[in-house]
Amino acid sequence: MVFALAAALAAALATGCREDSLPIADSRGREVEAGRRIYEAKCASCHNKNGDGRTITAGRFPYANLIDGKWRSDGSPAAIEKQVRRGHDPMPRFEGKLTNEEIRDVVAYVLQLSRSGSGGAAREAGGPTK
Ligand code: HEC
Repeated sequence: MVFALAAALAAALATGCREDSLPIADSRGREVEAGRRIYEAKCASCHNKNGDGRTITAGRFPYANLIDGKWRSDGSPAAIEKQVRRGHDPMPRFEGKLTNEEIRDVVAYVLQLSRSGSGGAAREAGGPTK
């Protein structure tokens, strides 16, 4: 799954992310853009706008950092979705507060954020340290 996403991303980069890129890339872009707005409204107060988690609320929880390539679980879309739905003390659960679509969008954004962070670079350099 991660590799499929990476391949899709590579394909998007190869086409230069032009306006006339494939429809699937367009819909993915919309998802991420919607996710960004949700993230900034509901998540950035703890996870910081850049995703590094260095905020007063979440700063002492290492896993609040979403861009270091280290995950409490496996960092898969399903695991991220589960954390968003159910929460994990002190993170609140968002099940019922966000629609299924909003949860999907915000998960897509978190994945994009994590790839753009230092964690993505570290992964490319040789994989996450577990
Ligand atoms: C009240 C503060 C707070 C809010 C709001 C919050 N989080 Fe969290 N989040 C945390 C903390 C603290 C952790 C680390 C807790 C732990 O150890 O599981 C965390 C963990 C996570 C993780 C797991 C990271 C990992 O390493 O596996 C994900 C994914 C995540 N948050 C996404 C989100 C998203 C998406 C939102 C918005 C919809 C959000 N969070 C809102 C505080 C928050």
